[in-house]
Amino acid sequence: TDDFFKSVVSHAKEYGFVFQSSEIYDGLSAVYDYGQLGSELKNNLKTYWWKSMVQLHENIVGIDAAIFMHPTTWKASGHVDGFNDPMIDNKDSKKRYRADQLIEDKIARYEADGKTAEAAGLLEALNTALNADDLAGLKSIIEEHNIVCPVSGTKNWTEVRQFNLMFATQMGAMADGADQVYLRPETAQGIFVNFLNVQKTGRMKIPFGIAQIGKAFRNEVIARQFIMRMREFEQMEMQFFCRPGTELEWYNKWKETRLKWHLALGFDPANYRYHDHDKLAHYANAAVDIEFNFPFGFKEVEGIHSRTDFDLKQHQEYSKKKMQYFDPEINQNYIPYVIETSIGLDRLFLTVLCNSLVTEDLSTAEKQDSRVVLKFPPALAPVKAAILPLTKKDGLPEKAREILNTLKLDYNVQYDEKDAIGKRYRRQDAIGTPICITVDYDSLEDNTVTIRHRDSMEQERVAIADLERILNDLAGW
Ligand code: GAP
Repeated sequence: TDDFFKSVVSHAKEYGFVFQSSEIYDGLSAVYDYGQLGSELKNNLKTYWWKSMVQLHENIVGIDAAIFMHPTTWKASGHVDGFNDPMIDNKDSKKRYRADQLIEDKIARYEADGKTAEAAGLLEALNTALNADDLAGLKSIIEEHNIVCPVSGTKNWTEVRQFNLMFATQMGAMADGADQVYLRPETAQGIFVNFLNVQKTGRMKIPFGIAQIGKAFRNEVIARQFIMRMREFEQMEMQFFCRPGTELEWYNKWKETRLKWHLALGFDPANYRYHDHDKLAHYANAAVDIEFNFPFGFKEVEGIHSRTDFDLKQHQEYSKKKMQYFDPEINQNYIPYVIETSIGLDRLFLTVLCNSLVTEDLSTAEKQDSRVVLKFPPALAPVKAAILPLTKKDGLPEKAREILNTLKLDYNVQYDEKDAIGKRYRRQDAIGTPICITVDYDSLEDNTVTIRHRDSMEQERVAIADLERILNDLAGW
């Protein structure tokens, strides 16, 4: 699985899906750029989410709030005081670590060595210390279990300190700290502060939702596993506002709806599961993660949280503006309760890559052969079809370009005339193009072409006039 993950990362780079940020300067840790195919895939994932959340729900609307928000927002939300990771430094290597991560790594080593009792005991001690915000407790665990710095190999640790994950910068010209603003660590707060703007201008009736896609920033201390944990990433969040007392009903509905959304992509359902939280954040009365079985184990892709009226109440208190809704059905004013669905777009992207990348053995008795294919669901594929003239002469390129010019109005399609046809098919397999359309000499006579399907590699002859319908059936929403 380690090797498989390495092949996912290198395939993503080799074919223009994901590059390390600022690579020519040796990169910037935990920051990535999406290349020509990655940005297409990402856009398709956004479209899939937006259509199913906003377009298909009469009572959900979308917004696009700014990344910068008034600094008091983050006091009210609890991020200034509570959005911390416990950090520890090694005095010899001068390296900084997350204390809880060092302990988790030790647990993993105990497990690998078959010391299951030690692993279980350590996990319990870790959870107790984390729940109590017991920084000294974390330090003693690290000492008792002889945890050494992975770089220096020594146990020369500093105390454990809290480290806030928000990036801060200055707004305007003053530099006295009064004008400090943050890059948002979640998109949700842009929805909360606009709750009444949207409700009033959109004449929304509870229950209703507000959805948003956008960047979020966290100064993650450990950067690991490619695009799993980034310092700049993208979230797709929806806050669903409901009448107090109905929230658990809606929570269960969204929990179910969101898993179905993942499974509708058609990948193996055995790789998805729920993880109910026993420990709840201070604002939540129920929370669950949807986890995917990544090559490095089951990890969170999406969270569904019942956030009560915590956020709106906090904003009411800090802004001194009423955050109430008048419910005409029961003739009452109240602060709505909120169910949140929050998915990391980059993690979703990684699930799609891991689910789709396969190496197929095509060997026959005569010769060894294999191919690398990205078996994307066609609607997500960055390129929907490749148009390939069999040869570079005799009017075949012109005919192929004619087809390209009609299809490109609705689909991202590619033209390729270089190399033998088999080689061109393999290039398209490697980027996940669902069909190749080959133009040959017969095409000039009878206006038909050969379609070669990515997964089955089967070929069929179809009329050029039918191509748009075929593509729509195959890859349309
Ligand atoms: N508004 C709730 C919220 O932000 P979260 O569990 O902190 O909750 C939600 O984040 C989702 O955002 C996660 O399930 C994950 O997919 C994604 N996410 C969080 N931190 C991330 C990071 N550093 N890199 C990539 N994705 C991240």
